[in-house]
Amino acid sequence: MARNRKRQSQSNIYAHIIGWGMRVPRTVLTNEDLAAIIETTDEWIESRTGIKERRIANDRETTAQLGLRAAKDALAMTDVLPSDIDLIIVATSTPENIFPSTASMIQHWLGAYNAGAFDLSAACSGFVYALDMAAQAIRSGSIETALVIGAETMSRVLNWQDRGTCILFGDGAGAVVLQARDNPGGLLSSVLRSDGSGHDLLGIPTFNSPEVRSPSGISEPRLHKMYMSGGAVMKFATRVIGASIKEACRLAGITLDDVKLVIPHQANERIIQAAARSLGFENDRFMSNLKYYGNTSAASIPIALCEALEQGKVSAGDYIVLVGFGGGLTWASTVIKWGVPYPADRSINTLQERRRQAEYFLVKLRVRMSRWLRRLSDLIRFRRNRDDFDW
Ligand code: COA
Repeated sequence: MARNRKRQSQSNIYAHIIGWGMRVPRTVLTNEDLAAIIETTDEWIESRTGIKERRIANDRETTAQLGLRAAKDALAMTDVLPSDIDLIIVATSTPENIFPSTASMIQHWLGAYNAGAFDLSAACSGFVYALDMAAQAIRSGSIETALVIGAETMSRVLNWQDRGTCILFGDGAGAVVLQARDNPGGLLSSVLRSDGSGHDLLGIPTFNSPEVRSPSGISEPRLHKMYMSGGAVMKFATRVIGASIKEACRLAGITLDDVKLVIPHQANERIIQAAARSLGFENDRFMSNLKYYGNTSAASIPIALCEALEQGKVSAGDYIVLVGFGGGLTWASTVIKWGVPYPADRSINTLQERRRQAEYFLVKLRVRMSRWLRRLSDLIRFRRNRDDFDW
């Protein structure tokens, strides 16, 4: 009991979501397009998953670029300047590098010079984990403003010959700005869980994976490509979602009847409907948009949140629950009492918007100048080496 009490908001500082944004690539890959490259049909994919199409990133649409654009959209709804941000967390399974973090790249491009930045790896639960980490830091008083991003380019880690996985995933990014406020609400409770015994059900092997280091090794095409036991993952997801939501509600001191909307990780319509059934909810109390984007892993919940807000499904004072599940295995739920009326709070302070644009402009200038300087010094070094050689 004492353990549970500890996990609830303890201070009179509350972590509210005050801005949100999403970005998806322009290129649409439909089920019919997939049927032209692998043995499948639109009917099979839609009936087994609920997915009709997904977005696929081009070479310039990287995880960091999509995350950056979503973050800028989220900031544009607020008075927050990049230099006001204290912490940036990017939840992703498809980072630009093992290190440095994608979060550090976004921090640099935004000009968020006062922010700490790191990537968080909890697969499709990552966004809820990241939100909880940021909210805890805000509630403890150690920071005031955080940017939490879920960004993925899943298309780059798919085995396009494996029809059991490549039909499911898509690319995109979503972001929220979290800020300390004294009005009660915002993130009220979180439940984070993991069961590493299922680590081999879903993942992306890299050079250090046990399989790769075993004497037989794994074949090159499987390195950095996703594997998944679809049936087992589905059973796990349908088992944990309901229990996790109930626990988060209990910790927040609300009942299931108080919940206006659940925003689940968008993996499969059958999983979403089974979770709704298990709680006795009508399907429309579970947000679903995977028909258009497929499973965008850590990006799916913030993207679905943005669309739920756009569609007017959430108003000030509503209780909503975000629930994620995925590789690890991991799962996580958080209860939010929505504190920002939409769209009334969208009125942008034009002076602040100008200052933000000025900060972006200065960053761009700085990035370009450092690129030119680097090229110039490379050129000088090359000339010097060549002259040394000639000499
Ligand atoms: N098109 C046509 N047939 C396909 C197919 C495809 N894209 N993918 C698989 N099949 C075939 C299988 O080969 C199998 O054929 P068989 O019976 O001749 O062996 C048959 O369809 C049934 O396969 P099965 O794997 O039992 O289907 P399913 O109903 O479990 O659906 C998934 C497969 C992957 C859609 C489903 O298991 C799933 O969505 N699981 C959850 C995955 C997930 O959400 N992962 C991310 C979590 S974060």
